[in-house]
Parts: sequence; C-alpha cells; structure tokens
Amino acid sequence: MPPQSQSKKSHHVCPWWLAYTFDNSLRRMVHPADKTLAPYVRPGMSVADIGCGFGHFTMGLARLVGPQGRVLAVDLQQKMLDKTMARLRKAGLADRAETTPCRAERLGLSGPLDFILAANVVHETPDPAGFFAETAESLTPTGLLYVMEPSFHVPETQFQAELDLAADAGFEIAERPTLTGERCIMLQLANRKARS
Ligand SMILES: C[S@@+](CC[C@H](N)C(=O)[O-])C[C@H]1O[C@@H](n2cnc3c(N)ncnc32)[C@H](O)[C@@H]1O
Repeated sequence: MPPQSQSKKSHHVCPWWLAYTFDNSLRRMVHPADKTLAPYVRPGMSVADIGCGFGHFTMGLARLVGPQGRVLAVDLQQKMLDKTMARLRKAGLADRAETTPCRAERLGLSGPLDFILAANVVHETPDPAGFFAETAESLTPTGLLYVMEPSFHVPETQFQAELDLAADAGFEIAERPTLTGERCIMLQLANRKARS
C-alpha cells in the first residue's frame, strides 16, 4: 500500500442508514439548526451544506435564507440527497434548494457562496486539503465556512491538523462557536479585502 500523507489518510464514509441514528428529534433539541446558524445566515444568501446527510442543517438553512435565497445540499450518497429533498418538499422549502451529488475528491460547487457549512464531514473526505481549497474558491470575499466535527470521533489533534490545512488554503479563524458534542470553528478568507 502506498504511504498516505496527512491530507490523504484513510477515511470512512458514514453509511446512509446510520443517519437515522443521529438525525432525529433528540438531535433537533441538542443542535437546533435555525438557532445554531441564525447568527451567520441572512435572507437572500446563497449557501451550501456539504455532506448534508439527511438534511438536519439543510432544513434550517432553507428556512433562514428565505424565498429569495438559495441552498445547495451536496453529498456523495444519492440516498442522503433523496431524503433531504423529500424533507424539503414536505416542508414547502424545495423551491429554494437544490440537491447536488459530488465525488469524494471534488465537490463541484457552483459559487459564489455567502456561507458554507461542513458539519461532521471533513474527517470523511479523502483530501481535506482539496476540500478547503475548493470551498475557499467558492466563497464570496466575505463568505464564511463553518466546520464542525464530532468530538467523540475527531480528537483535538486531528481537528487542529484540519485547521492547519484550512490555513494553507487561505482561511483564518473568525470565531469559535460552541455546540454540544462538536468541535467547531468559523473560518473566513484571510485575503478577503484583496479579493473584494
Ligand atoms: C456523519 S454524516 C453528517 C451529515 C450531516 N452533515 C449532519 O451533520 O447531520 C457525513 C455525510 O458526509 C457525506 N460525505 C462523506 N464524504 C464526503 C465527501 N468527500 N464529499 C461530500 N460528502 C461527503 C456522507 O455521505 C454523509 O452524508
């Protein structure tokens, strides 16, 4: 087996059926999507939920951007996207959302985006450096990238290594939000003034 670099170490993708265990009413209490994202997402914004799973946070994003906004829900697994779209339709929010399949090493985002959420997904990507480079490219100069990783699964050292890769891609820390059971960071582009 070839040696793997820090940015391309082995990864495990959450199977679609496991989403039933964490996207439920308890999660909605512990991680209320609207309240968690409301400080950063305003009506009319273009936003993305990368690795959307069953759409826990996509639903909150769709409510927050309002009818003039746009939400891209991106995932590797079609079953995740289908479930997310079914929930959006049921809630009458499908008109402002789009589900987009991606490849493990390429998100294929269509920007510019005002806000990107990466909830519990960076540790599953085979190329976090590429992930941060692509998200940096897709943001508006003042855009934000919210990374959260499960604390029980991603140790502090691994999270810090991810942040180092984000810094290499041109991100700097904007804020350290807190959320139960998650390691969280809000990132902004370090050269945002030059880009605007
Ligand atoms: C642990 S789940 C989290 C789902 C959701 N963000 C949440 O917090 O409820 C991780 C999700 O990321 C997706 N995923 C894994 N690797 C990915 C990649 N390289 N690009 C996009 N999505 C990916 C998986 O298919 C899965 O839906």
